[in-house]
Amino acid sequence: MVDKEYQIIAKNYDLAGRASSDIKRTLKTMNLSPLLLKRVCAASYEAEINVVIHSVGGYATFHMDHEKIVLEFMDDGPGIMNLDLAMTEGYSTANELDHANGFGAGMGLPNIKRTADHLEIRTSPEGTHLIIMFFLEGIS
Ligand SMILES: Nc1ncnc2c1ncn2[C@@H]1O[C@H](COP(=O)(O)OP(=O)(O)O)[C@@H](O)[C@H]1O
Ligand SMILES: [Mg+2]
Repeated sequence: MVDKEYQIIAKNYDLAGRASSDIKRTLKTMNLSPLLLKRVCAASYEAEINVVIHSVGGYATFHMDHEKIVLEFMDDGPGIMNLDLAMTEGYSTANELDHANGFGAGMGLPNIKRTADHLEIRTSPEGTHLIIMFFLEGIS
């Protein structure tokens, strides 16, 4: 069993990806398939960057047990304005500075949706909560 928690700081491009790097480092010590490792890391990175560039800040939790990996990302707003639009490939409200730092291609949420076994999104002006799950098979 693994349980970890990470703070995510808004607009800090230097620290962006730090939580995902630690999750990746931890997962590399587990006996995961390269594909599953890649899927989890991609989803984690996209969700973390979203908290950095689109929210006022938040935190992430990483849980792993014998049957699943659960990533949760929670922030304190302003929420996703239009979830249907946000799930559309290429749609982004990222600003010039985000683009200059290499973010804002509008593929984050669609990629998380595609790569996860289960995705739940709760969003309101008070904040956004993503629950991303991957089910493990055949490892103990
Ligand atoms: N945590 C969040 N808080 C507020 N808005 C968000 C959040 N995550 C995503 N969004 C909104 O959903 C849009 C699409 O997200 P995404 O597919 O990751 O594209 P990108 O991050 O490149 O803009 C974002 O441009 C933003 O408007
Ligand atoms: Mg994104």
